[in-house]
Amino acid sequence: MKAVILAGGSGTRLYPVTISVNKHFLPIYNKPMIYYPLSLVMLLGIKDVMFIVNPEDMDSFKKLFGDGSHLGMNISYEIQKKPNGLAEGLILAEDFIGNDNVCYMLGDNIFYGHDLINIMKDAKREIEINGGAYVFGYYVKDPERFGIVEFDEKGNVKSIEEKPQKPKSNYAIVGMYFYDNRAVEIAKNVKPSDRGELEITSVNEQYLKNGRLKVKLLGRGFAWFDAGTHDSFLEAGEFVATIEKKTGLMVGCIEEVAFNNGWIDKDTLLELAKPLRKTGYGKYLIELAERA
Ligand code: DAU
Repeated sequence: MKAVILAGGSGTRLYPVTISVNKHFLPIYNKPMIYYPLSLVMLLGIKDVMFIVNPEDMDSFKKLFGDGSHLGMNISYEIQKKPNGLAEGLILAEDFIGNDNVCYMLGDNIFYGHDLINIMKDAKREIEINGGAYVFGYYVKDPERFGIVEFDEKGNVKSIEEKPQKPKSNYAIVGMYFYDNRAVEIAKNVKPSDRGELEITSVNEQYLKNGRLKVKLLGRGFAWFDAGTHDSFLEAGEFVATIEKKTGLMVGCIEEVAFNNGWIDKDTLLELAKPLRKTGYGKYLIELAERA
């Protein structure tokens, strides 16, 4: 399985903060927002990652991640000329995805939960064995903001709608999608929505029509943030700060995951920590290497 992380878009809901800075570089507490989804695909063991980026931000992304070899990964980039919608990323990543399945992540979504990685691994395994699409629902108080899934009395998925004015449920589809290879062709056939975007919800709807969509609800043991508004951005940062201070462990630390995965050795970890040594982040990496 390969991973595609969407890191383009206009970020207008964070204006004026994001007029001159791409939102994915903004700090969620002590690290850039984009580290969080990247660390999750790394925790899944996925080394091949493509970022979908805006033309003007390509160099900054390359400055941050390069080709990924320092993390033992293969990181590549594809430009999205305009924010035409989430489903366009699948089309842009067609060559990269090749004949593989794909873990499709939104760059501004932050997840935390005890069993999260096992749940993601289950989704990956399900797609690898049976194909289809596997997505996650999460209870929200403001369903007009999201892709919303409706269930029938037996718990089967009845409908999915993007940002409905009259939501049929409070379950949002979160920004982590597992697809088989058909997703690219499905995305190519998506028509722009009323707001002129190729919606990821339309891709999910097509899987639903084909009887190939699985929705798993994330319960109260999970925290999920779409950090794309001022309030949710702040909430996510405060949440991560609290968790890290309480547990003494980092959330979304990509160097730590690379090290624990055996993708980099102790010397490389110390080398990566060097320029960061004046920060708690750098000290954390040094302690990690010394304990090993
Ligand atoms: O956060 C979950 C929600 O994300 C889902 O419930 C919705 O179904 C889905 O459409 C999406 O809604 P948003 O309105 O929150 O999407 P947003 O415009 O914030 O973009 C999500 C990420 O994708 C963000 O990191 C920016 C990036 N993006 C967005 C667009 C529109 C791109 O890379 N290219 C794009 O064209």
